[in-house]
Amino acid sequence: MTQIEVVRGDITKLQVDAIVNAANTSLLGGGGVDGAIHRAAGMELLRACERLGGCLTGSAKVTPGFELPAEWVFHAVGPVWNGGTHGEDTKLEGCYSRCMELAREYDVKSIAFPAISTGVYHFPRQRAARIAVTTVNNQLEASNLERVIFCCFDEMTAEIYTRLLRNHRI
Ligand code: APR
Repeated sequence: MTQIEVVRGDITKLQVDAIVNAANTSLLGGGGVDGAIHRAAGMELLRACERLGGCLTGSAKVTPGFELPAEWVFHAVGPVWNGGTHGEDTKLEGCYSRCMELAREYDVKSIAFPAISTGVYHFPRQRAARIAVTTVNNQLEASNLERVIFCCFDEMTAEIYTRLLRNHRI
């Protein structure tokens, strides 16, 4: 039985096999959680990202975690919110789905997700959380994950995820 939990805090501190980054298509760093992960991982992360040649929105690519506690970073590129009629839901779902595939490929037992796209990219928190929880939950059985963390940086996001997990009885 996979343990799914909501943690309020800084994803760079979590002792998990993989953390997910909310990156941009260049994969060359930025602000928000992207900036925090690059700062904590050190310069080698940027060099590894430079070799990836970018990433399409709605997908994710992998690097080692370097100086992070996590062994891997899955750099997911979420959609910028543009009113909800430009395929944003599908692209956000693609980020979580690709990360669950990568978790299988890298035989990851524990993973932490930030609330992808809900900061600078302005994706509505509740709608994004529902996509995240549903997509992850639908692909749990096919994974070998023992622990999934939704890492929320603010209280409102943490409450949204906590309520969703309770209502879904996950
Ligand atoms: N740990 C966990 N979550 C964090 C952290 C952190 N250290 N820092 C920020 N967050 C949260 C934000 O509060 C938000 O809930 O991550 C979520 C995603 O917000 P952003 O980091 O702004 O990411 P996003 O909205 O996907 O925008 C991505 O921002 O930083 C740039 O390079 C990035 O261009 C890309 C864009």
